[in-house]
Amino acid sequence: MTEEVANYGASTDAVILVGGRGTRLRPLTIGTPKPMLPTANYPFLQHLLARIQTAGITHVVMSTSFKAEVFEEYFGDGSELGLDIEYVVEETALGTGGGIRNVYDKLRHDTVMVFNGDVLSGMDLSGILDTHHRKDADVTMHLLNVADPRAFGCVPTDEEGRVLEFLEKTEDPPTNQINAGCYVFKREVIQTIPADRVVSVERETFPALLSDGHLVVGHVDNSYWRDMGRPDDFVRGSSDLVRGIAYSPLLDGRTGEAIVDESAGVAGGALLLSGTAIGRGSVIGAGCRIDGTVVFDGVTIEPGAVVNNSIIASGVHIGANAHIDNCVIGEGAQVGARCELQGGMRVFPGVVLPDAGVRFSSDA
Ligand code: GDD
Ligand code: MG
Repeated sequence: MTEEVANYGASTDAVILVGGRGTRLRPLTIGTPKPMLPTANYPFLQHLLARIQTAGITHVVMSTSFKAEVFEEYFGDGSELGLDIEYVVEETALGTGGGIRNVYDKLRHDTVMVFNGDVLSGMDLSGILDTHHRKDADVTMHLLNVADPRAFGCVPTDEEGRVLEFLEKTEDPPTNQINAGCYVFKREVIQTIPADRVVSVERETFPALLSDGHLVVGHVDNSYWRDMGRPDDFVRGSSDLVRGIAYSPLLDGRTGEAIVDESAGVAGGALLLSGTAIGRGSVIGAGCRIDGTVVFDGVTIEPGAVVNNSIIASGVHIGANAHIDNCVIGEGAQVGARCELQGGMRVFPGVVLPDAGVRFSSDA
């Protein structure tokens, strides 16, 4: 990194959009905002904050709405992370564009880097800042190529990288190049977003900037990238962090098949595989096989249980020899011994399934 590039961070504000309701991750997000869910044993957002800090950015503004207080209670003023964090709360959700406009008064610099708070990415932050300044763009957005662009913003560019169109979640995308959810704005552009009403940056602000002839530039970086908004992506993202496939400065030197909090207890003969994370005070019994799974805090899994590619929320109890495959088990739920759950089932918080009470096979 050149000195010039390194200096960009110090004169850049970071804004993180964390006001969404995380509906696709329910029931995990009933009581906890999506960016605060444990991922490789840290709240997801902490991995992003560490990347921001590593890029030399110190001033961070969180654009919050749903469960706003949870963020400040956990991160405070950010000084423990080497950051200076401020919080702005929307009484009613203002949308992604409204959320960006709403932090305008807190901005200190002319360059503002906005992040969707649910994206796990290895993109080089200094690279996009460099593109933004070199091209003197009004907005520079991180773009990447994916196999199926329909669930994202589709962003065609010309051969110089100038953005031609912004097509949010379209059924017939003209290119597989998508919006990765990280933008660098000139501060003055943020001031043009209407204040105090709901605005979608994707559906309203970007199309308007393009039709007004502003210079919107794409910065293509195909490093590791995943939107953590759905259970299967959340599970995969967490296990990729644990295995070091996705990089987090928080896990430097500690990546491997599994990460186990030091207060957790894992019985001999239990197998923890494929990037499994075991949170604080959780207990895993003998002979369990826990594969690619995120286990939150205070969970008990009795001997012989098999859990694959699932999310097990805090305080859950899983009985002996239960089989759980691709499921979300909500806070405090009890899954009886020998139950078989699979195929994306979501057990809601506090639900009690009796021993062998839910089976897939017929041999109970
Ligand atoms: N402050 C605030 N206020 N934040 C919000 C609001 C709001 O009203 N609504 C959503 N957010 C935050 C969410 O918390 C999330 O971090 C981010 O904005 C994006 O919202 P999602 O709900 O996760 O959007 P998406 O995943 O469907 O689509 C977005 O991300 C894709 C990349 O992951 C779009 O930006 C797509 O264009 C993009 O491709
Ligand atoms: Mg998302």
